[in-house]
Amino acid sequence: MDPNRVNVPAMAPQALERALTLPAIVYSDPSWFEWELGHVLGRHWQLAGHMGQLPRPQSFASVQVNRKSVLLTRDGHDQVRAFHNVCRHRGGPLVLEHGCGKTLQCKYHGWTYDLTGQCKKAGEMREAEDFDPSQMKLFELPCAVWHELIFVASSTPPPFEEWLGGMADLLKPNPLPMPYVRTVSYEVACNWKVYVENYLEGYHLPFVHPGLNQLLSYNQYKTQLFRWYSHQSSPIQSDLYGDGQAHYIFMYPNMMLNILPNRLQSNLVIPLSPTTCRVVFDYYTHQTSVLDRDIAFSDEVQGEDIHICERVQQGLMSGAYQAGRISPSQEKGVWHFQELIRAAWDAHVTS
Ligand code: FES
Ligand SMILES: [Fe+2]
Repeated sequence: MDPNRVNVPAMAPQALERALTLPAIVYSDPSWFEWELGHVLGRHWQLAGHMGQLPRPQSFASVQVNRKSVLLTRDGHDQVRAFHNVCRHRGGPLVLEHGCGKTLQCKYHGWTYDLTGQCKKAGEMREAEDFDPSQMKLFELPCAVWHELIFVASSTPPPFEEWLGGMADLLKPNPLPMPYVRTVSYEVACNWKVYVENYLEGYHLPFVHPGLNQLLSYNQYKTQLFRWYSHQSSPIQSDLYGDGQAHYIFMYPNMMLNILPNRLQSNLVIPLSPTTCRVVFDYYTHQTSVLDRDIAFSDEVQGEDIHICERVQQGLMSGAYQAGRISPSQEKGVWHFQELIRAAWDAHVTS
């Protein structure tokens, strides 16, 4: 990305009370998008899956993380690891879907590896000089498991404990982990940051979500900022979910945890192109009897968000809009996210 293509004042750090939004170009420019994949998504923890995909010792599964095929394994001692799903021989795939067993066999020429990534057998290689399969390991990635959720990073992310700093206290009253029950996903015709920023404020609740707004308390809606995540919360009163507290946690750069009484929903915002993204909702709950109603109501709210996000994308691409102002009381979560993007950009242009 050529630094001269973005408006430099809008990319400098912004005080909340004076903040401008990010410039419109970063919501549709193809070279900016490629920069983000490498420097924002590629340098942070990404939700890769959940333990339901590795249901017993010696399970393995292939997943996509930031447009790369990643292999997750759970060995006989329940240690979870992540690897590039790439054979050390000529780059073939080890796993196409999921399975169970002590070894993985490459789909191309049959080299085998154990679940720690160690090459165990490489056929027809006797005449290869200075070749020792015991020196061959799959390319391992940083991996962490937290409340049954599996996180992977493709380069050097912040330490996992730092990334989550303070969240354990925040979530203490909630019965986590909960069992995985279902996935629903949506394609949205907007840049991934439009979707994230929409999530990061309750300002639009009365205008976009009349139904949800009746369950939450706009006046008691609060946003707290942490180093790598933000936390929105509100009391909730609902026949469907029960009465309690709704938590909306955004974990930079592209994941959310929505916790309502007795139910957890993770959202992963996957950039597909500069102007499209996919949002994957995984549901976790003990109370499966209300799952269909929960999904139907979430679907209604999601439809409202998709509609407004797609219109915002069109507005950002209208050529008329350059950047706007932020509400310090209602949009500090948006500001926090945009400041993290600005810091990533600053680190890039000053390195
Ligand atoms: S690429 Fe894996 S065995 Fe050849
Ligand atoms: Fe919304």
